[in-house]
Amino acid sequence: MSLRILISEDQIQTRIKELGAQIDADYPAGELHLVCILKGAFGFLADLSRAIKRDTLIQFMGISSYGKGKTTSGEVKVTKDLDHSVEGANLLIVEDIVDSGVTLSYLTHLLQQRRPRSVRIAALLDKPERRLRPVEVSYVGFKIPDEFVVGYGLDYGEKYRNLRDVCVLENEAA
Ligand code: PRP
Repeated sequence: MSLRILISEDQIQTRIKELGAQIDADYPAGELHLVCILKGAFGFLADLSRAIKRDTLIQFMGISSYGKGKTTSGEVKVTKDLDHSVEGANLLIVEDIVDSGVTLSYLTHLLQQRRPRSVRIAALLDKPERRLRPVEVSYVGFKIPDEFVVGYGLDYGEKYRNLRDVCVLENEAA
């Protein structure tokens, strides 16, 4: 296996500053609730939250989806729920990647039932070719082709999450 840089640390950091400025400009005055989806989004959450200049509240949520890549059942399980109510809040879901859209489609509906003022999604990476469920992503860092990517939070067998760049994991024999 070898790693090829797809999006460099510099490109990521520059884009996140742009996203932070756009988010600040888009929302009315007041607090923004960031909901980080574990585990892959931890790095994006850290950098994006610091690129946003307004007051933020940060919560974490754990999700696992069954049969990803095998079925379209869309069954998703919450493994760690939010600690605080989000009623009346402007919620921004922070994700590392949108792939089939199954996770975010489920999550958006789940959070909407908790009566926030608004729910939007920020995702560093978007693989639109893989979409099975429609998902509206308000803030996209980069659209990427259908390649297996690791780094900047994304893993392969829990490895590579600490890389500063987003890389394509390639089979050297290929
Ligand atoms: C990844 C990613 C999203 C989901 C996107 O998480 O962080 O939550 O997959 O895929 P989808 O659009 O096909 O639903 P993963 O299940 O790999 O967990 P992790 O973040 O803990 O690595």
